[in-house]
Amino acid sequence: MYEQVSHALLNRILDRIKPAIRKRDLRHFYTRLGGNFYAIHTLFQQLYGHRDDFENLMLRLVEVMAAQYIARADDLKALDALREGDHNWFLSQEWVGMALYTDGFAGDLQGVAGRAAYLQELGVNMVHVMPILECPKGASDGGYAVSNFRDIDDRVGTLDDVRDLGAELRRRNMLLTLDVVVNHTSDEHEWATRARAGEKTYQDYYYVFPNRDIPDMFEETMPEIFPETSPGNFTWDEAMGKWVMTVFNNYQWDLNYSNPSVFIEMLDIVLFWANHGADIVRLDAVAFLWKKIGTTSQNEREAHLILQMMKDCVQVTAPGVLFIAEAIVAPVEITKYFGEDAIVAKECEIAYNATFMALLWDAVATKNANLLNIGARSQPQKLDRATWLNYVRCHDDIGLGFDDADIHRAGYEPYAHRRFLIDWFTGAYADSPARGQPFGRNDKTGDARISGSLASLVGLEAALESGDDRRIQQSIDLILLLHSMIMAYGGIPLLYYGDEIGTPNDCTFLEDENKAKDNRWMHRPQIQWAMADLRKQHGTAQQRIFDGLKKMIAVRKTTAAFADYNNRELIDTGNDHLFVFVRTNPNMFNDHVLVVGNFDSNPQSLNLSDLGTRWGFDYGRLQDLCSGESPALFKDQLVIPPYRFYWLSDCGTR
Ligand code: GLC
Repeated sequence: MYEQVSHALLNRILDRIKPAIRKRDLRHFYTRLGGNFYAIHTLFQQLYGHRDDFENLMLRLVEVMAAQYIARADDLKALDALREGDHNWFLSQEWVGMALYTDGFAGDLQGVAGRAAYLQELGVNMVHVMPILECPKGASDGGYAVSNFRDIDDRVGTLDDVRDLGAELRRRNMLLTLDVVVNHTSDEHEWATRARAGEKTYQDYYYVFPNRDIPDMFEETMPEIFPETSPGNFTWDEAMGKWVMTVFNNYQWDLNYSNPSVFIEMLDIVLFWANHGADIVRLDAVAFLWKKIGTTSQNEREAHLILQMMKDCVQVTAPGVLFIAEAIVAPVEITKYFGEDAIVAKECEIAYNATFMALLWDAVATKNANLLNIGARSQPQKLDRATWLNYVRCHDDIGLGFDDADIHRAGYEPYAHRRFLIDWFTGAYADSPARGQPFGRNDKTGDARISGSLASLVGLEAALESGDDRRIQQSIDLILLLHSMIMAYGGIPLLYYGDEIGTPNDCTFLEDENKAKDNRWMHRPQIQWAMADLRKQHGTAQQRIFDGLKKMIAVRKTTAAFADYNNRELIDTGNDHLFVFVRTNPNMFNDHVLVVGNFDSNPQSLNLSDLGTRWGFDYGRLQDLCSGESPALFKDQLVIPPYRFYWLSDCGTR
């Protein structure tokens, strides 16, 4: 939009910009800056407009964007241009991700590059390398407490190794996702050290208070994230003689985004990683970016403004780079991280679908899809050019973040139902084969979340120990059923390393004093490559899971109806054990896939004639895309075996 005030400001800034920048040929940069400047200015004004140094801050912001544009390599600039031309590129069904810890997966970054062929064998082409930046040698929240945003933890490699990994992945048409922990730093970061030494400039980077007056007011309404290990939201720093806000662990200091210098620094850091080859940047804990007394200090409007501004600025310098919002919050709040009051995503293009993940686990424990059907229907529609990251497990705990109203609608009482789920997954419930543990138990509120690996939560670990083939097969079927849902639902499926070979809980963390109190480490394993090799041996659990996933991934990639254009319709079948939806190919008439999942331990049936003729399926000719088999039919009733899924299409139309 052309707006006089903004453009007069932009002209003044360009007149004052550093000669080193002015001399360069930055045509693409200036076109994009012109396109986005009105939005950037408006947002910056809303957040920081009251400041006397406003214009100088805007100048600094533009210089950061320009300097990083100049530093951006030509091949990355070429990718930017390509992706601008094909701006829906990431909505394609061809993308399949995996999240992994560098050390757990392959020792170090060179090791990860060396294992790229393994990922490719499975079909994974988007790799989320979990935090690799310099962090404290002791407890570091798995690297989510960063001590230096511009260097790599020497235990996993060097900056050159990241660049090489990016190049290796690009050579194989794979994407690299890196974390930028935007909400906090470790207490060993230079900013924290200088704050501690008394430098006011750096104390202003954090929320620092001389006494408990303000902290106490915040505490009235702020929940606790790690109530067992780090209760409260503030930590007394002896050296500084002050309280500092630490929402997560006491060594993670929250950054103060009401200080524009923090925003500019963090933008520079995001662009630094874009220039080091990140195709996608995962923005950690974005719900927490703005703090306000009297609120939970989560999902505040200003947090969204910051993300919009970050996106607008990155679009100027590195428009090919996408953002993932890591906001594990209530269902109605999550979709807002794509942006509100917009048609096309204007904050993060991708967000974790924590709602769908939790609903899937509910279906596992209850053996029915009642709440899953209700919760999936309540999920607000996404914007265009936005997509979900659908996952079953990740490095974090499973939070039971369903909407209470939906739990009621499903016929349960919220407190009792959550209690049941925790008992089920921690094996406290008599019939449950699950071997998880409660995480983040809060005695004041009765809340808890769940830790545990996929294989252990679905009962595979227990089944293998019992040697009972039927139970082993059922657990494998469950693993495949859950993945069939995230691959077909719409969005990028994100696998979690180790799950592809059924890795059980890893309890060695108990021997490490820096990890022992945080049982999320039980599902952050060291990959046993000898176990992974068993994927090549017919009949092993590893082979059945790996090959099952590999087949699903291959089929997903060639099934255009699985691209994510809000082309999904949930079907009410009247059978609570089934989760059923139809995906439609946005580019071809009459090309649909009927997705059916049976979460029960008994066979279930679906009346196909009840689905009507709308999609034009020839029900007699339905074929499962994965197995190639025609499913069992009794008259017009489709029979779905226990814990099985179908991706059905009638061969006539394909
Ligand atoms: C995110 C990470 C989690 C970490 C937290 C604090 O939620 O996924 O592992 O503990 O942020 O950084």
